[in-house]
Amino acid sequence: MLENKGIFAPHAKQVDEAKQGEVFTCDTSNPTDKHFYIESYGCAMNFSDSEIVASILSNNGYSATTDIESSDLILINTCSIREKAEDKVRKRLRIFDKVKRAKPDTMIGVLGCMAERLKTKFLEEEKLVDFVVGPDAYRDIPSLITSAEEGERSVNVLLSREETYADIAPVRLNSNGVTGYISIMRGCDNMCSFCVVPFTRGRERSRDLFSIISEAQDLFDRGYREVTLLGQNVDSYKWSNPETNKAVTFANLLEQVALVNPLLRVRFSTSHPKDITNDVLHTIAKYKNICDYIHLPAQSGSTRILELMNRTYTREWYQERINAINRIIPGCAISSDIITGFCTETEAEHQETIDLMKWAKFSLTYKFYYSERPGTLAERKYEDDIPYEVKKRRLAEIVAVQLEISKEHNDRDIGKTFEVLIEGDSKKSKDDFKGKNSHGKLIVFPKSQNLSPGDYVQVLITDATSATLKGHIVNE
Ligand code: 5AD
Ligand code: SF4
Repeated sequence: MLENKGIFAPHAKQVDEAKQGEVFTCDTSNPTDKHFYIESYGCAMNFSDSEIVASILSNNGYSATTDIESSDLILINTCSIREKAEDKVRKRLRIFDKVKRAKPDTMIGVLGCMAERLKTKFLEEEKLVDFVVGPDAYRDIPSLITSAEEGERSVNVLLSREETYADIAPVRLNSNGVTGYISIMRGCDNMCSFCVVPFTRGRERSRDLFSIISEAQDLFDRGYREVTLLGQNVDSYKWSNPETNKAVTFANLLEQVALVNPLLRVRFSTSHPKDITNDVLHTIAKYKNICDYIHLPAQSGSTRILELMNRTYTREWYQERINAINRIIPGCAISSDIITGFCTETEAEHQETIDLMKWAKFSLTYKFYYSERPGTLAERKYEDDIPYEVKKRRLAEIVAVQLEISKEHNDRDIGKTFEVLIEGDSKKSKDDFKGKNSHGKLIVFPKSQNLSPGDYVQVLITDATSATLKGHIVNE
């Protein structure tokens, strides 16, 4: 099996659009292999899926390369969540076209949500693309390649009610060797009115508990010290053990993963405010290695807008969940997703969102202006009536508000000592390590010779910006 290369992969829940397009690499290759080059866009789930695709390809005589020009197969794992994400993919395809014109044998495959959304239309629009494959059809990639080699451009966008790729051991791509994703479920049944995901990723289904535990154990045995359990809505994880007929909830799953080893940190994403249970909160509180960090997308602070968004909770419900987190897990960091400029949003409702952000004191938020997506409930039912300029201005306002909140949040950490899991060298200096505390905050500190990535260390915080904490090692 292919090994990891020590390149840092994005850790964020919804990978920031500006940072997307990570090129994946692995460091072992067989000289007889063909080579694939893969770029991924969108959420952590897409990055995780690319590791499944890499596994399928490595079993079919391919190894990864970062050199696009020498690759035999170029893959792009796409995101449809906002129009901007799709625009970026189209731009990349123009570059791939050039490579293919220079070397016509190169295959181009489009994966992921945009493939699912556009289906055969993609082949009509993109003349140099050889195959289009949706998120539930990755096992079919080898045969799609064969068809393309025989001159037949093809599409497989069948969605499945069962596929979880449970038996496929992902090939860790661009890994730092310390932190890894584990997909625990696929699809989404929620139907938030703005969201294209239920259409591109299909119905919700949960993966076999035992395959999740053995993936976590395998990562731990290979030196990994943190896993992030991934799903569109992890709180609705539900799997029934066929031997005992017992239902396994997300709280049960979290506990089982935490028990793999106390040195293995456990994170998860994404929670839904309507579904996150006190059982889950008590499980986090009970195990030191389950990180005190919850990503709980609010989307809006206005009950009326939440209703239009079909989020099925009110502002008050959301606040009660935040109160429960603070009560059961004191000091827990909470982050959120916010959409601004949703259909009919008034200035007063925008202000309600700002007030909620300040009230909740989010450590971090991922902020977007509303982008109408074809086929969604909102596209069919509501007019996208907030002018672009207003959306942009509201977005700038919530960005500025969050900067202040994050800075205050981080300033409160000065003088505290945290256990940090070392992930590697800091971006700015090879003399510094970077790592995260349980709250998911990035901490930079001067290196010590006898420590390496994967080690835990106590760091006293001496300085903070809105994005990073700085400190030094204590009690080594
Ligand atoms: N426009 C803007 N943001 C969106 N998101 C989902 N759909 C849209 C859309 N149409 C955001 C939500 C979600 C995150 C992953 O992306 O905030 O939580
Ligand atoms: Fe989209 Fe809502 Fe499902 Fe998240 S929970 S993927 S926002 S439909």
